[in-house]
Amino acid sequence: MTIKKVSKSFETHFGNQYRLFAAPGRINLIGEHTDYNDGFVLPAAIDKKIYLAIEPSDDRMMQVFSVDYDEEANIAIDGPQPEMPHWALYSYGVARELLSAGHHIGGFRAVFSGDIPTGAGLSSSAAIESAFAVALNELFQLDADPMSLAKTGQKAEHNYVGVRCGIMDQFASFFGKKNHAMRLDCRSLEHAYFPLALQGYSLILADTRVKHSLASSAYNKRRQQCEEGVALLQQKYPAIKSLRDATPELLTEHKDMFDREVWMRCIYVTEENQRVLNACDALQQGDMEKLGTLMFGSHSGLRDRYAVSCKELDLLVETAENTKGVAGSRMMGGGFGGCTISLVKTGALEPFRDNASAAFTKAFGHEPLFYDVTTGDGAGELSETR
Ligand code: GLA
Repeated sequence: MTIKKVSKSFETHFGNQYRLFAAPGRINLIGEHTDYNDGFVLPAAIDKKIYLAIEPSDDRMMQVFSVDYDEEANIAIDGPQPEMPHWALYSYGVARELLSAGHHIGGFRAVFSGDIPTGAGLSSSAAIESAFAVALNELFQLDADPMSLAKTGQKAEHNYVGVRCGIMDQFASFFGKKNHAMRLDCRSLEHAYFPLALQGYSLILADTRVKHSLASSAYNKRRQQCEEGVALLQQKYPAIKSLRDATPELLTEHKDMFDREVWMRCIYVTEENQRVLNACDALQQGDMEKLGTLMFGSHSGLRDRYAVSCKELDLLVETAENTKGVAGSRMMGGGFGGCTISLVKTGALEPFRDNASAAFTKAFGHEPLFYDVTTGDGAGELSETR
C-alpha cells in the first residue's frame, strides 16, 4: 500500500517523527475548460491519492523525497529559486505561495508517493499541491481555510509550474466527498453536492496512455483565446467580464466580429456551461440517458470547437457510441491525451472494455488501461497508525 511505502521511506530517510496527510485526484463528469472562464464544473474526488509524511525542521530548507522518482530535493525556501527536478516545483510552489501570502512557515522534511496514474488527466499534480498545502497549514498552524489553500495550489501551478489552470482540480481535491459529485460555480465559488446515484450505471475511465508534450502550451493558448473573445465582446457589452456572461446566441449574433478559431473556442465554453447545468438536472432526476447525451455533446465540442482532443481519445469515444449500454462518454481534463470517462450500464461494462480494447489496439498497437471509478473524500490528515 502506498501509505505504508511512504511511512517506511520516511523512517529510512528522516526518522520516525512525522504526520501523515493525503489528498485525492479527481474525475470530472462534465464542464471542461469552463473553470478559468468563471463557469461551472461537476467534478468528484476519487479514492486514488497522494500520500505525504512530513515533519517540521528547524532550518529553512525543504528536504523532500519523491518515492516514485526515487530522488531527493534539498531547497532553501527563501531567496532566489534554484534549479530543481520538475516534481519538486509543486511543493516548492506551495511553500513559496504561502510565504508570499504572508504566512509564517518554516522548513520541513517530507516523503510522498501516490497511486493516481500520472498524465492520465486525474490531477495528480493538484493532489501534490493540496497534500502539501493542507500539511503545511496544520504543521505551522496557519489557520487558512480550505478554499484559500486550494487557491494556493492553483497559484503554485501558475507561477512555478507555468500552467494557467483554473480552480477545479485543487477545489475537488480539497472539497471531495465520497459518493458525491460537486457543482462548482467558478465565479462565486459556491458549490453544491450531488449524490452520485447512477441508477444501474457505472463510471469507467479508459486511459489512452498518451500525453502530448504540447499540452501545457496549448492549454495556455486556449485560455488566451478565451480572453481575446471576452475583450472583443466587451467593446459592445462592457458588462461582460468573462465567457460566463455570454451565451451561444450572443456569440452567434456577433460571429463576424471574431477570428474563426477564437469564435469556436468561445462558443464551446458557453455551450459547455449550459451542458453542466443540464447535467446537474439530469443527475437529480436520475436520468442517466440524458446525462450521457450531454457527455457525448461535451466531447464533440472539445473535439471540434475547442480542439483539445486527439485521435486516441476520439476513437475511444466513438467505440463507446457504438457499444450498446453506453449512455455517454467524453475526454476528461485538459486534453491531448489522458482518459475518457464513460457512463455505462453496469451489465455492459465488459463488452465496452472488450470493444474499446480491440479497436484501440488495432489502431494504435497498445491497449488502453481501464480504471473503475470509486469516489473519495477530500484532503486531510490521516489518523491511522504508522
Ligand atoms: C486541467 C486544469 C483545470 C481545468 C481542466 C480542463 O485539469 O488544471 O483547471 O481547466 O484542465 O477542464
